[in-house]
Amino acid sequence: MQLQQNFSLKNFNSFGIDIYANYFGCFCNITELEDLFTQQQENKINSHLILGGGSNILFTKNFDGLVLKNEIKDIELINETEKHYYVKVGAGEEWHQFVLYCISQNYAGVENLSLIPGSIGASPIQNIGAYGVELKDVFYELEAYNIREKKLISFSLIDCAFGYRQSVFKTSLKNTHIITSVTFKLNKHPIFNTSYGAIEQELEKMNVQQLSIKAISNAVINIRTSKLPNPKEIGNAGSFFKNPTITETALSELKKEFSNIPNYINTINNATNYKIAAGWLIEQSGFKGYRIGDAGCHEKQALVLVNYGNAQGYEILELSNVIINQVQNKFGILLEREVNIL
Ligand code: EPU
Repeated sequence: MQLQQNFSLKNFNSFGIDIYANYFGCFCNITELEDLFTQQQENKINSHLILGGGSNILFTKNFDGLVLKNEIKDIELINETEKHYYVKVGAGEEWHQFVLYCISQNYAGVENLSLIPGSIGASPIQNIGAYGVELKDVFYELEAYNIREKKLISFSLIDCAFGYRQSVFKTSLKNTHIITSVTFKLNKHPIFNTSYGAIEQELEKMNVQQLSIKAISNAVINIRTSKLPNPKEIGNAGSFFKNPTITETALSELKKEFSNIPNYINTINNATNYKIAAGWLIEQSGFKGYRIGDAGCHEKQALVLVNYGNAQGYEILELSNVIINQVQNKFGILLEREVNIL
C-alpha cells in the first residue's frame, strides 16, 4: 500500500483528537507490513507507531513518523477438545464483534468482556478486564512479528506475563513486536461469572429466567451503556487511570477518616493488599462531572476522562495532572494513568 502523507488521525483514536501523522499506512498481512517497513526505510522515516482500535491512547501532539494501522482480519476455529474451542483471531478484528461472534456460536468465556472498545491485537497488551473476567482467563497463545528479527514468534500465557492491565508488551518488550493474531481457549460448557455485584442486579432487572452467555452479555452491555460514554458520541478511552493498590496499614489509616472507602482484597504472591476504586477517590476530590473547556471528567463514572468536542490532547493531559495532584493531596495515593500518552 502507498503511504499517505499528512494524515488526520481524528477517526483513528477514540478520544477523537484531531492531530496528524506525517505518514500513514494500513496492513492486512505480514507481506504488506514488511512492504510498509521498506517504504519507511526508503523515505528515511525515523519512528513508527502501530495502531489498533486507538481506544487506549491520548495524542498530545502531531505524530512525527509513520502510523501503521493493523487490519489483519479472520476468525478461525483451529481446534476443539471435549471441553474447549480454540479460536484464532486476526489482530485487526474489533474486540466486541468477536464477542458477538462467540455468543452466536455458543463459545463461552468472553461474555463479561462485552462492549470493550478496541481491537483484538490491543487486548493482550493491557490484559483488558471487566466484571470479574480478564483476557488472561480465556487466552491460549498469540503470534507477534518481531520487528528486529523480522519473524513471527508465538507467546504462551506464561510468556505474556499478564498482570492487572499489564503484560510483557508494556514492559520489557515494549514496541518490539506487532501482535498479528490471538488464539482464545473458550468453553463448550459455560462457567457463568455473575459474582460482580452489578451483573446479578441487572439480570434480575432484566427478569432473566434461564442464565446464558447471551443474557450475561446483554446485562454487561446494559451496565456499560448506562454509565460509560459511547466513544462515537463523546470521545474517551475508557478508564483513564488504574485502580491503585495500597497496603493493609495504609488502608486502616485512611479508614479512620474515610470509613466508607471502597476497597477490594487483592492477594498476589501471598502478599495481601487492597485495591481502591479510583473513581471514588476522584469523585470525592470533587471532579465528577467537572469540565474545563471541552476536556472533562465524566458525570457518571469519574474514572473516565472525556473530550466533549474540540479538546486538545494536552488539555485532557493537564486535567489528568490536576486530578492526580488533588487525589494525592487528599488521600496520599498516587494515581497511575492507564491510557498511553503520546
Ligand atoms: N465509584 C465511585 N464513583 C465513580 C466511579 C466509581 O464512587 O465515579 C466507585 C463505586 O463505589 C463503585 C466502584 O467505584 O462501586 C467500582 O466502580 P465500577 O464498578 O464502575 O468499576 P471501576 O473499578 O471504576 C473497573 C475497570 C473498568 C471496568 C469496571 C467493571 C479499571 C481501571 N477499570 O472500573 O474498565 O469496566 O471495573 O469491571 O480497572 C477500562 O479499563 O477502560 C474500564 C472501563
